[in-house]
Amino acid sequence: MVTDAQRDAAEAFGGGLAVITGAGAGIGAGLARHAAALGMAVVVADISRERAEEVAAEIAAAGGTAHAMTVDVAHAGRIEQFAQEVHERFGNVRLLINNAGIETVGYTWEIPAERWDATLDINIHGVVHGVRAFMPHMIASGEECWVANLSSVGGFGQMPIQTSYIMSKHAVQSFTECLALEVGLLDVPVHVSAIIPGMVRTRIFDATDADKGEVAVAHRTAMREAMAANGMDLDKACERIMDQLATGRFWVSTQPRMTRMFVEKRAAFLSEQAEPQLAPELAPMFAHRKK
Ligand SMILES: NC(=O)c1ccc[n+]([C@@H]2O[C@H](COP(=O)([O-])OP(=O)(O)OC[C@H]3O[C@@H](n4cnc5c(N)ncnc54)[C@H](O)[C@@H]3O)[C@@H](O)[C@H]2O)c1
Repeated sequence: MVTDAQRDAAEAFGGGLAVITGAGAGIGAGLARHAAALGMAVVVADISRERAEEVAAEIAAAGGTAHAMTVDVAHAGRIEQFAQEVHERFGNVRLLINNAGIETVGYTWEIPAERWDATLDINIHGVVHGVRAFMPHMIASGEECWVANLSSVGGFGQMPIQTSYIMSKHAVQSFTECLALEVGLLDVPVHVSAIIPGMVRTRIFDATDADKGEVAVAHRTAMREAMAANGMDLDKACERIMDQLATGRFWVSTQPRMTRMFVEKRAAFLSEQAEPQLAPELAPMFAHRKK
């Protein structure tokens, strides 16, 4: 059954071009499939050409239009080149989703400098430079369009062992809020949204070569298990995201009650100037690590 929200989303987005980074897997791939199903042509961009091609082929097999492209969002110059190519080959972008992101786990001082840099370059600078590269074309088009950045409930939270990731999501949330204000200073039909997933079942917690030490390995395993047990279905999450984006709202949540809980906890922490404290529900995950 087609819902009113899906009809509205098809009306807003159908016939337009979507550019989604990190679309070779997980949420990016799910959003690419949903955007195509709404009638958008989709640029499936990923650092992995193979994964981008797989997702584009899957969309084409389902009757949609997709173009696989390779980009490493960690490099400003490469995103600028990518944006130029997209503009020249496909014209105006109606929906840009800066989605590519990585998880990094471990004690801050055990994570190699290169992995710290990669986390901040992909999760923060990838979003900033995605906006820098595409926004001028989008504004110049004069057409209604959407820019959405992947924040997280973690963008309001505190979590040890995922420090680089959590701080990157606070940065993306703050960046996106200020970006919305900047766009608001202009009389242009550009919507800015922060996409705030709670926990959605993807492979973001799969083990990587970057995991150094027992703590990192154990934490990734615990998070992977939590995601398998409590994560939201990917398709459902992406359908919710597309429906909310179409309304032009700033706050786009996969699990709105979870977002509210994180925001309220953050607000209380700040207004009480409380000490940073491990959330009681997370305590069991870390109890065995006390020396
Ligand atoms: N899954 C969740 O529960 C969750 C929760 C909150 C926020 N998020 C955010 O959603 C986004 C997507 O996460 P996911 O869970 O789908 O992850 P994922 O690991 O399943 O997919 C991420 C994709 O990004 C690509 N990628 C990685 N580095 C890249 C780079 N430098 N340039 C281009 N592409 C790159 C990967 O190849 C992969 O295809 C991330 O920003 C993540 O922080 C996810």
